[in-house]
Amino acid sequence: MAELNMAKLEELAGKVVGNANAALSGLLAYIGDQTGVYRAMADGEPHSVEEIATRAGVDSRYLKELLSANAANGYVNYEAGSERFYLTPEQIAVFATEDSPANMHGLLQIIVAQYAEHETAVDVFRSGKGRPWGDQHTCQFCGTDRFFRPGYIANLVTNWITALDGVQEKLEAGGTIADIGCGHGSTSVLMAETFPNSRVFGYDIHGPSIDDARSKAAAAGVDNITFDQADAGSIPSNGGYDFACVFDALHDMGDPVGVARHIRESLAPGGTLMVVEPLAGDKTEDNLHALGGVFYGASTLICLPNSRSQDVALCLGAQAGPKRLIAVLEDAGFSSVRIATTSTTNIVLEATA
Ligand SMILES: C[S@@+](CC[C@H](N)C(=O)[O-])C[C@H]1O[C@@H](n2cnc3c(N)ncnc32)[C@H](O)[C@@H]1O
Repeated sequence: MAELNMAKLEELAGKVVGNANAALSGLLAYIGDQTGVYRAMADGEPHSVEEIATRAGVDSRYLKELLSANAANGYVNYEAGSERFYLTPEQIAVFATEDSPANMHGLLQIIVAQYAEHETAVDVFRSGKGRPWGDQHTCQFCGTDRFFRPGYIANLVTNWITALDGVQEKLEAGGTIADIGCGHGSTSVLMAETFPNSRVFGYDIHGPSIDDARSKAAAAGVDNITFDQADAGSIPSNGGYDFACVFDALHDMGDPVGVARHIRESLAPGGTLMVVEPLAGDKTEDNLHALGGVFYGASTLICLPNSRSQDVALCLGAQAGPKRLIAVLEDAGFSSVRIATTSTTNIVLEATA
Protein backbone atom coordinates (compact mmCIF):
# COMPACT_ATOMS: atom_id res chain seq x y z
CA MET A 1 0.00 0.00 0.00
CA ALA A 2 1.31 3.51 -0.89
CA GLU A 3 2.32 5.83 1.98
CA LEU A 4 -0.16 8.40 3.33
CA ASN A 5 0.41 11.79 1.63
CA MET A 6 -0.63 14.56 4.05
CA ALA A 7 -1.11 17.21 1.34
CA LYS A 8 -3.40 14.90 -0.63
CA LEU A 9 -5.24 13.94 2.55
CA GLU A 10 -5.90 17.61 3.36
CA GLU A 11 -7.02 18.24 -0.21
CA LEU A 12 -9.48 15.33 -0.07
CA ALA A 13 -10.81 16.26 3.38
CA GLY A 14 -11.24 19.85 2.15
CA LYS A 15 -13.20 18.57 -0.82
CA VAL A 16 -15.55 16.68 1.50
CA VAL A 17 -16.07 19.83 3.59
CA GLY A 18 -16.92 21.63 0.33
CA ASN A 19 -19.39 18.88 -0.56
CA ALA A 20 -20.94 19.03 2.92
CA ASN A 21 -21.33 22.79 2.48
CA ALA A 22 -22.98 22.08 -0.89
CA ALA A 23 -25.35 19.56 0.67
CA LEU A 24 -26.41 22.06 3.35
CA SER A 25 -26.72 24.84 0.77
CA GLY A 26 -29.04 22.67 -1.29
CA LEU A 27 -31.32 22.04 1.68
CA LEU A 28 -31.33 25.73 2.62
CA ALA A 29 -32.14 26.70 -0.97
CA TYR A 30 -34.98 24.16 -0.89
CA ILE A 31 -36.34 25.76 2.29
CA GLY A 32 -36.00 29.22 0.72
CA ASP A 33 -37.89 28.01 -2.33
CA GLN A 34 -40.69 26.30 -0.42
CA THR A 35 -41.25 29.35 1.78
CA GLY A 36 -41.13 31.90 -1.04
CA VAL A 37 -37.89 33.65 0.01
CA TYR A 38 -36.45 33.85 -3.52
CA ARG A 39 -39.77 34.92 -5.02
CA ALA A 40 -39.78 37.73 -2.43
CA MET A 41 -36.38 38.83 -3.79
CA ALA A 42 -37.16 38.34 -7.50
CA ASP A 43 -37.20 42.08 -8.24
CA GLY A 44 -33.40 42.10 -7.89
CA GLU A 45 -33.49 45.11 -5.55
CA PRO A 46 -31.57 45.10 -2.23
CA HIS A 47 -33.88 44.44 0.74
CA SER A 48 -33.42 44.26 4.47
CA VAL A 49 -33.94 40.88 6.14
CA GLU A 50 -37.11 42.24 7.77
CA GLU A 51 -38.54 43.30 4.40
CA ILE A 52 -37.87 39.89 2.83
CA ALA A 53 -39.22 38.13 5.92
CA THR A 54 -42.45 40.15 5.77
CA ARG A 55 -42.87 39.53 2.04
CA ALA A 56 -42.29 35.75 2.41
CA GLY A 57 -44.05 35.41 5.77
CA VAL A 58 -41.12 33.76 7.55
CA ASP A 59 -39.19 34.31 10.79
CA SER A 60 -36.63 37.08 10.27
CA ARG A 61 -33.91 35.70 12.58
CA TYR A 62 -33.89 32.31 10.86
CA LEU A 63 -33.98 34.09 7.51
CA LYS A 64 -30.87 36.13 8.32
CA GLU A 65 -28.96 32.94 9.05
CA LEU A 66 -30.20 31.24 5.88
CA LEU A 67 -29.39 34.24 3.67
CA SER A 68 -25.93 34.52 5.25
CA ALA A 69 -25.25 30.86 4.42
CA ASN A 70 -26.60 31.51 0.91
CA ALA A 71 -24.36 34.58 0.54
CA ALA A 72 -21.31 32.57 1.67
CA ASN A 73 -21.97 30.35 -1.36
CA GLY A 74 -22.81 33.06 -3.89
CA TYR A 75 -26.49 32.04 -4.08
CA VAL A 76 -27.49 35.58 -2.99
CA ASN A 77 -25.50 38.79 -2.45
CA TYR A 78 -24.94 40.79 0.71
CA GLU A 79 -24.49 44.58 0.77
CA ALA A 80 -22.36 45.10 3.89
CA GLY A 81 -22.96 48.85 4.32
CA SER A 82 -26.74 48.70 4.24
CA GLU A 83 -26.97 45.10 5.58
CA ARG A 84 -29.32 44.22 2.73
CA PHE A 85 -29.54 41.12 0.52
CA TYR A 86 -30.31 40.98 -3.22
CA LEU A 87 -30.31 38.67 -6.25
CA THR A 88 -28.40 39.32 -9.49
CA PRO A 89 -30.11 38.47 -12.83
CA GLU A 90 -28.21 35.15 -12.88
CA GLN A 91 -29.33 34.31 -9.34
CA ILE A 92 -32.89 35.21 -10.31
CA ALA A 93 -32.66 32.77 -13.27
CA VAL A 94 -31.39 29.94 -11.05
CA PHE A 95 -33.50 30.52 -7.92
CA ALA A 96 -36.49 32.71 -8.74
CA THR A 97 -37.70 32.03 -12.30
CA GLU A 98 -39.88 28.95 -12.50
CA ASP A 99 -39.44 27.79 -16.12
CA SER A 100 -35.92 29.16 -16.66
CA PRO A 101 -33.69 26.40 -18.11
CA ALA A 102 -31.22 27.40 -15.38
CA ASN A 103 -33.71 26.90 -12.50
CA MET A 104 -32.14 24.36 -10.13
CA HIS A 105 -34.91 23.85 -7.58
CA GLY A 106 -36.16 20.63 -9.22
CA LEU A 107 -32.72 19.08 -8.89
CA LEU A 108 -32.49 20.20 -5.25
CA GLN A 109 -35.93 18.69 -4.55
CA ILE A 110 -34.73 15.36 -5.94
CA ILE A 111 -31.77 15.45 -3.56
CA VAL A 112 -33.93 16.43 -0.59
CA ALA A 113 -36.14 13.41 -1.41
CA GLN A 114 -33.10 11.15 -1.12
CA TYR A 115 -31.98 12.61 2.20
CA ALA A 116 -35.54 12.38 3.54
CA GLU A 117 -35.43 8.60 3.15
CA HIS A 118 -31.75 7.95 3.65
CA GLU A 119 -32.36 4.83 5.74
CA THR A 120 -34.20 3.18 2.85
CA ALA A 121 -31.42 4.23 0.49
CA VAL A 122 -28.81 2.55 2.71
CA ASP A 123 -30.91 -0.59 3.05
CA VAL A 124 -31.49 -0.85 -0.73
CA PHE A 125 -27.81 -0.21 -1.46
CA ARG A 126 -26.64 -2.84 1.01
CA SER A 127 -29.09 -5.55 -0.02
CA GLY A 128 -29.17 -4.86 -3.76
CA LYS A 129 -32.94 -5.23 -3.74
CA GLY A 130 -35.22 -3.24 -6.04
CA ARG A 131 -37.07 -0.04 -5.13
CA PRO A 132 -39.94 0.93 -7.44
CA TRP A 133 -40.22 4.55 -8.57
CA GLY A 134 -43.49 4.85 -6.62
CA ASP A 135 -41.69 4.03 -3.34
CA GLN A 136 -39.62 7.20 -3.53
CA HIS A 137 -40.41 10.25 -1.39
CA THR A 138 -43.06 12.46 -3.04
CA CYS A 139 -40.51 15.27 -3.59
CA GLN A 140 -38.92 12.96 -6.14
CA PHE A 141 -41.86 13.12 -8.54
CA CYS A 142 -42.51 16.87 -8.67
CA GLY A 143 -38.73 17.51 -8.43
CA THR A 144 -38.09 15.39 -11.53
CA ASP A 145 -40.82 17.16 -13.48
CA ARG A 146 -39.63 20.56 -12.34
CA PHE A 147 -35.99 19.76 -13.15
CA PHE A 148 -36.58 18.36 -16.65
CA ARG A 149 -39.50 20.55 -17.81
CA PRO A 150 -37.51 23.71 -18.69
CA GLY A 151 -35.14 21.63 -20.86
CA TYR A 152 -38.11 20.10 -22.67
CA ILE A 153 -39.70 23.52 -23.21
CA ALA A 154 -36.39 24.77 -24.62
CA ASN A 155 -35.67 21.75 -26.85
CA LEU A 156 -38.49 19.34 -27.57
CA VAL A 157 -40.38 21.19 -30.28
CA THR A 158 -37.67 23.41 -31.74
CA ASN A 159 -34.57 21.20 -31.58
CA TRP A 160 -35.46 17.56 -31.08
CA ILE A 161 -38.58 16.85 -33.17
CA THR A 162 -37.13 18.99 -35.98
CA ALA A 163 -34.01 16.78 -35.98
CA LEU A 164 -36.12 13.70 -36.83
CA ASP A 165 -36.90 12.57 -40.34
CA GLY A 166 -40.39 13.80 -41.39
CA VAL A 167 -41.94 13.66 -37.89
CA GLN A 168 -42.80 17.36 -37.52
CA GLU A 169 -44.76 17.42 -40.82
CA LYS A 170 -46.64 14.27 -39.83
CA LEU A 171 -47.62 15.68 -36.43
CA GLU A 172 -48.65 19.03 -37.87
CA ALA A 173 -50.97 17.24 -40.32
CA GLY A 174 -52.32 15.04 -37.51
CA GLY A 175 -50.78 11.88 -36.10
CA THR A 176 -50.95 9.59 -33.12
CA ILE A 177 -48.34 10.10 -30.40
CA ALA A 178 -47.37 7.89 -27.44
CA ASP A 179 -45.37 9.40 -24.55
CA ILE A 180 -44.16 6.39 -22.56
CA GLY A 181 -42.96 6.82 -18.99
CA CYS A 182 -44.49 10.29 -19.21
CA GLY A 183 -44.27 11.08 -15.48
CA HIS A 184 -46.19 14.28 -14.74
CA GLY A 185 -46.94 14.70 -18.44
CA SER A 186 -45.12 17.95 -19.23
CA THR A 187 -43.84 16.59 -22.57
CA SER A 188 -47.27 15.14 -23.46
CA VAL A 189 -49.01 18.47 -22.79
CA LEU A 190 -46.34 20.37 -24.73
CA MET A 191 -46.86 18.12 -27.77
CA ALA A 192 -50.68 18.28 -27.48
CA GLU A 193 -50.47 22.09 -27.45
CA THR A 194 -47.98 22.28 -30.33
CA PHE A 195 -49.73 19.74 -32.56
CA PRO A 196 -53.49 20.32 -32.10
CA ASN A 197 -54.30 18.02 -35.05
CA SER A 198 -52.52 15.13 -33.36
CA ARG A 199 -53.72 12.92 -30.50
CA VAL A 200 -51.39 12.23 -27.58
CA PHE A 201 -51.48 9.16 -25.32
CA GLY A 202 -49.38 9.43 -22.14
CA TYR A 203 -48.50 6.32 -20.13
CA ASP A 204 -46.71 5.80 -16.86
CA ILE A 205 -46.56 2.94 -14.39
CA HIS A 206 -46.94 5.38 -11.46
CA GLY A 207 -50.59 6.22 -10.72
CA PRO A 208 -50.07 9.48 -8.77
CA SER A 209 -47.92 10.85 -11.63
CA ILE A 210 -50.74 10.07 -14.07
CA ASP A 211 -53.19 11.92 -11.79
CA ASP A 212 -50.90 14.95 -11.85
CA ALA A 213 -50.52 14.70 -15.64
CA ARG A 214 -54.31 14.75 -16.03
CA SER A 215 -54.51 17.89 -13.87
CA LYS A 216 -51.79 19.51 -16.00
CA ALA A 217 -53.71 18.75 -19.20
CA ALA A 218 -56.91 20.15 -17.70
CA ALA A 219 -55.13 23.31 -16.56
CA ALA A 220 -53.64 23.73 -20.05
CA GLY A 221 -57.10 23.26 -21.59
CA VAL A 222 -55.96 20.60 -24.10
CA ASP A 223 -58.47 17.94 -25.09
CA ASN A 224 -56.38 15.96 -27.61
CA ILE A 225 -54.66 14.03 -24.84
CA THR A 226 -55.36 10.92 -22.75
CA PHE A 227 -53.33 9.67 -19.79
CA ASP A 228 -53.41 6.10 -18.51
CA GLN A 229 -51.49 4.17 -15.91
CA ALA A 230 -49.71 1.36 -17.75
CA ASP A 231 -46.49 -0.59 -17.81
CA ALA A 232 -44.45 0.45 -20.84
CA GLY A 233 -44.17 -3.18 -21.90
CA SER A 234 -47.92 -3.54 -22.39
CA ILE A 235 -49.31 -0.20 -23.60
CA PRO A 236 -52.20 -0.49 -26.06
CA SER A 237 -51.37 0.32 -29.70
CA ASN A 238 -54.36 2.61 -30.37
CA GLY A 239 -54.32 1.72 -34.06
CA GLY A 240 -50.54 2.32 -34.36
CA TYR A 241 -48.45 5.32 -33.29
CA ASP A 242 -46.90 7.63 -35.85
CA PHE A 243 -44.57 8.89 -33.15
CA ALA A 244 -43.59 7.24 -29.88
CA CYS A 245 -41.23 8.87 -27.40
CA VAL A 246 -39.56 8.03 -24.11
CA PHE A 247 -38.09 10.92 -22.14
CA ASP A 248 -35.45 10.16 -19.52
CA ALA A 249 -37.17 6.90 -18.64
CA LEU A 250 -35.92 3.99 -20.80
CA HIS A 251 -32.85 3.42 -18.61
CA ASP A 252 -35.13 3.34 -15.52
CA MET A 253 -37.04 0.37 -16.86
CA GLY A 254 -36.28 -3.25 -16.00
CA ASP A 255 -36.56 -4.46 -19.57
CA PRO A 256 -35.68 -1.63 -21.96
CA VAL A 257 -35.16 -4.08 -24.84
CA GLY A 258 -38.57 -5.69 -24.31
CA VAL A 259 -40.22 -2.28 -23.94
CA ALA A 260 -38.55 -0.97 -27.12
CA ARG A 261 -39.64 -4.15 -28.94
CA HIS A 262 -43.24 -3.65 -27.79
CA ILE A 263 -43.11 -0.01 -28.90
CA ARG A 264 -41.75 -1.07 -32.32
CA GLU A 265 -44.67 -3.48 -32.67
CA SER A 266 -47.08 -0.69 -31.66
CA LEU A 267 -45.89 1.79 -34.32
CA ALA A 268 -47.93 2.56 -37.42
CA PRO A 269 -46.16 1.78 -40.74
CA GLY A 270 -43.42 4.40 -41.15
CA GLY A 271 -43.65 5.35 -37.45
CA THR A 272 -40.69 6.69 -35.44
CA LEU A 273 -39.46 6.13 -31.89
CA MET A 274 -37.53 8.96 -30.23
CA VAL A 275 -35.56 8.08 -27.10
CA VAL A 276 -34.22 10.96 -25.00
CA GLU A 277 -31.61 9.92 -22.44
CA PRO A 278 -29.08 11.71 -20.22
CA LEU A 279 -26.00 12.70 -22.18
CA ALA A 280 -23.02 10.42 -21.53
CA GLY A 281 -19.91 9.01 -23.12
CA ASP A 282 -19.52 5.28 -23.65
CA LYS A 283 -16.81 4.78 -21.04
CA THR A 284 -16.91 5.50 -17.30
CA GLU A 285 -13.85 7.73 -17.65
CA ASP A 286 -15.76 9.90 -20.16
CA ASN A 287 -18.33 10.80 -17.50
CA LEU A 288 -16.18 11.74 -14.51
CA HIS A 289 -17.24 15.38 -14.24
CA ALA A 290 -19.87 17.31 -12.24
CA LEU A 291 -22.84 16.44 -14.48
CA GLY A 292 -21.72 12.81 -14.65
CA GLY A 293 -21.49 12.82 -10.83
CA VAL A 294 -25.10 14.03 -10.59
CA PHE A 295 -26.33 11.41 -13.07
CA TYR A 296 -24.36 8.53 -11.51
CA GLY A 297 -25.62 9.65 -8.07
CA ALA A 298 -29.26 9.72 -9.16
CA SER A 299 -28.72 6.43 -10.94
CA THR A 300 -27.39 4.76 -7.77
CA LEU A 301 -30.34 5.94 -5.68
CA ILE A 302 -33.26 5.99 -8.11
CA CYS A 303 -32.75 4.55 -11.61
CA LEU A 304 -30.97 1.28 -10.83
CA PRO A 305 -33.28 0.39 -7.91
CA ASN A 306 -36.36 1.00 -10.09
CA SER A 307 -34.95 -1.14 -12.89
CA ARG A 308 -34.09 -3.84 -10.38
CA SER A 309 -37.69 -3.84 -9.12
CA GLN A 310 -38.98 -4.89 -12.56
CA ASP A 311 -38.71 -8.05 -14.70
CA VAL A 312 -35.32 -8.61 -16.40
CA ALA A 313 -33.73 -5.88 -14.19
CA LEU A 314 -31.18 -4.87 -16.82
CA CYS A 315 -29.99 -1.87 -14.78
CA LEU A 316 -28.77 0.18 -17.75
CA GLY A 317 -28.03 3.20 -15.54
CA ALA A 318 -28.36 6.90 -16.30
CA GLN A 319 -24.95 7.06 -18.00
CA ALA A 320 -25.34 4.16 -20.43
CA GLY A 321 -23.79 6.03 -23.36
CA PRO A 322 -24.75 5.97 -27.04
CA LYS A 323 -23.18 2.62 -27.94
CA ARG A 324 -25.18 0.71 -25.32
CA LEU A 325 -28.41 2.62 -26.02
CA ILE A 326 -28.15 1.99 -29.75
CA ALA A 327 -27.52 -1.72 -29.03
CA VAL A 328 -30.70 -1.83 -26.89
CA LEU A 329 -32.77 -0.42 -29.76
CA GLU A 330 -31.15 -2.70 -32.33
CA ASP A 331 -31.74 -5.73 -30.09
CA ALA A 332 -35.40 -4.66 -30.00
CA GLY A 333 -35.49 -5.10 -33.78
CA PHE A 334 -35.27 -1.52 -35.05
CA SER A 335 -33.58 -1.59 -38.45
CA SER A 336 -32.35 1.99 -38.37
CA VAL A 337 -31.07 3.74 -35.23
CA ARG A 338 -29.13 7.01 -35.19
CA ILE A 339 -28.19 9.87 -32.90
CA ALA A 340 -30.52 12.61 -34.14
CA THR A 341 -29.07 15.37 -31.97
CA THR A 342 -27.73 16.22 -28.53
CA SER A 343 -28.26 19.08 -26.06
CA THR A 344 -26.11 20.09 -23.09
CA THR A 345 -27.70 17.37 -20.95
CA ASN A 346 -29.40 14.92 -23.33
CA ILE A 347 -28.82 12.57 -26.23
CA VAL A 348 -31.71 12.09 -28.69
CA LEU A 349 -31.94 8.80 -30.58
CA GLU A 350 -34.19 8.16 -33.56
CA ALA A 351 -35.27 4.59 -34.32
CA THR A 352 -37.40 3.36 -37.19
CA ALA A 353 -38.70 -0.16 -37.77
C1 LIG B 1 -37.01 9.92 -14.52
S1 LIG B 1 -38.74 9.76 -14.66
C2 LIG B 1 -39.06 10.65 -16.17
C3 LIG B 1 -40.49 11.09 -16.28
C4 LIG B 1 -40.82 11.96 -17.49
N1 LIG B 1 -40.66 11.26 -18.74
C5 LIG B 1 -39.96 13.21 -17.48
O1 LIG B 1 -39.02 13.26 -18.29
O2 LIG B 1 -40.20 14.11 -16.66
C6 LIG B 1 -38.95 8.07 -15.14
C7 LIG B 1 -40.40 7.67 -15.29
O3 LIG B 1 -40.46 6.34 -15.82
C8 LIG B 1 -41.56 5.69 -15.22
N2 LIG B 1 -41.40 4.24 -15.37
C9 LIG B 1 -40.43 3.48 -14.83
N3 LIG B 1 -40.61 2.20 -15.19
C10 LIG B 1 -41.70 2.16 -16.00
C11 LIG B 1 -42.36 1.13 -16.71
N4 LIG B 1 -41.93 -0.13 -16.69
N5 LIG B 1 -43.46 1.46 -17.43
C12 LIG B 1 -43.90 2.74 -17.48
N6 LIG B 1 -43.31 3.75 -16.82
C13 LIG B 1 -42.21 3.47 -16.10
C14 LIG B 1 -41.54 6.19 -13.79
O4 LIG B 1 -42.77 5.96 -13.13
C15 LIG B 1 -41.18 7.66 -13.99
O5 LIG B 1 -42.32 8.46 -14.11
